[in-house]
Amino acid sequence: MTRDELAAHLDYMRELGVQGVSRAAEWRARVEAPRLAEGLPPGETDDMPSDDALAAMPADATPPPAVALAPAEALAALRQAIGPDCTRCKLHTLGRRQVVFGVGNPQARLMFVGEAPGEDEDKQGEPFVGRAGQLLTKIIEAIGMTREQVYIANVIKCRPPGNRNPEPDEVGTCEPFLFEQLGIIQPRIVVALGKFAAQSLLRTTEPITKLRGRVFEWRGASLIPTFHPAYLLRNPPAKREVWEDMKKVRELLQA
Ligand code: URA
Repeated sequence: MTRDELAAHLDYMRELGVQGVSRAAEWRARVEAPRLAEGLPPGETDDMPSDDALAAMPADATPPPAVALAPAEALAALRQAIGPDCTRCKLHTLGRRQVVFGVGNPQARLMFVGEAPGEDEDKQGEPFVGRAGQLLTKIIEAIGMTREQVYIANVIKCRPPGNRNPEPDEVGTCEPFLFEQLGIIQPRIVVALGKFAAQSLLRTTEPITKLRGRVFEWRGASLIPTFHPAYLLRNPPAKREVWEDMKKVRELLQA
């Protein structure tokens, strides 16, 4: 990167409201959200200037000390970057009412990831508010927590028509935003709700029956796959296994 390019890059970051740069992993996650506002793909921060490059800069181009966006601000920037009327995939032409971004504590230690909004979520703009969501709320409360203390999001942010499974192009387009959310929140524990979320996050085709009951190390967090609450509504006996998984979650939170 030339000096001019570096100066232009820093100007660009400043325009986005980012004050200063750092190569720390935490900071890199925080700065990716504003980058999306400019249509840049997430995860590409390799062009961040090195410490040597910063040291070599002229004095008048030296940025102020790095001030990372707080998680709440970074999430707000990401929400804004996605926009209320996202048209990045075909779901906007297939009857979805709104983007369902995510809800909860921006600094949650525990994050739940579902598949995609259903009809109620599409109407209300919040994940897991229908019958499955009410069961999820009870599951959260069963380990002594509230919905407000955790963060809840889906792999894709728009409702597929008729609640069909998300298609690969839709996942490919939308999933980076989930990774952004995870990078900003940095939960200690991620609970993948159901086959779709578990397989997407773990990049596997193993069935949920083989994945649940295990704890995976995932990008610095513990990832616990469990059954989807909608499955529990159809198969109440499976609540017992989910309770086992949630006890593990509670144990890890207390460790
Ligand atoms: N099912 C999901 O996977 N996510 C929701 O938000 C609602 C139902």
